[in-house]
Amino acid sequence: MAAALRGVVAIDGPSGTGKSTAARGLAERLGAGYLDTGAMYRVITLAVLRAGTDLGDPAAIAKVAGSTDLAVGADPVDPVVLLDDADVGAEIRGDEVTAAVSAVAAVPEVRELLVDAQRQIIEGVLADVGGIVVEGRDIGTVVVPDAELKVFLTAAPEIRAARRTAQHSAAGRAVNHTDVLRAVDRRDRLDSTRAADPLRAAADAVEVDTSELDLERVITALLELVAQRDLVADRAREG
Ligand code: DC
Repeated sequence: MAAALRGVVAIDGPSGTGKSTAARGLAERLGAGYLDTGAMYRVITLAVLRAGTDLGDPAAIAKVAGSTDLAVGADPVDPVVLLDDADVGAEIRGDEVTAAVSAVAAVPEVRELLVDAQRQIIEGVLADVGGIVVEGRDIGTVVVPDAELKVFLTAAPEIRAARRTAQHSAAGRAVNHTDVLRAVDRRDRLDSTRAADPLRAAADAVEVDTSELDLERVITALLELVAQRDLVADRAREG
């Protein structure tokens, strides 16, 4: 019998904690929707870069964001990411976007715009399938402060950098571990210290340290939390 998630699971945390893979895996197991909010900040960043906008000019960034045509899918099996109807799923993970995204995500107008869009997507998915796993930096604190379950994933910086390095290698990008560690540190510092909605754990979030856990164990830990909160409805019994 298929299980179905009821409500919102908010998963926040810095980069390299395994957030995306764990959130997608959890959504798949629970027959739920999935929203990668980081992908949305990355699409705006790609549009900003393509427009040749100065990253030090928040007003210009906000203007580009306001006219960007972006779409993200909520299917955990194939979470498509579109800019002007073209698939940019690979491009938004490249170095250029990764290096610039924190500057774009720090602009309050960009956040306002995306938080609104995220809430609309979440409402739509909840109406359609009843449950969604949402991952980002401010989901439990800002986007869905009344989420049924909030999780804050952490991992030691060395481990996060090693995971990022492995992701780059898997994607065929040659990288140096020390450079990646520096980049991970820099981005987390920028994301945690910005004035608008900085990365932080919600007071009622459950912290899960993934340093010593492989993906399967992280998903198991999340499934246990979901079960403890009684968030799994049995579709067959209900329907
Ligand atoms: O999860 P990610 O690495 O794809 O996120 C890219 C950037 O977007 C990250 O450096 C910070 C920003 N971000 C954010 O500010 N708020 C979110 N909810 C998600 C991502």
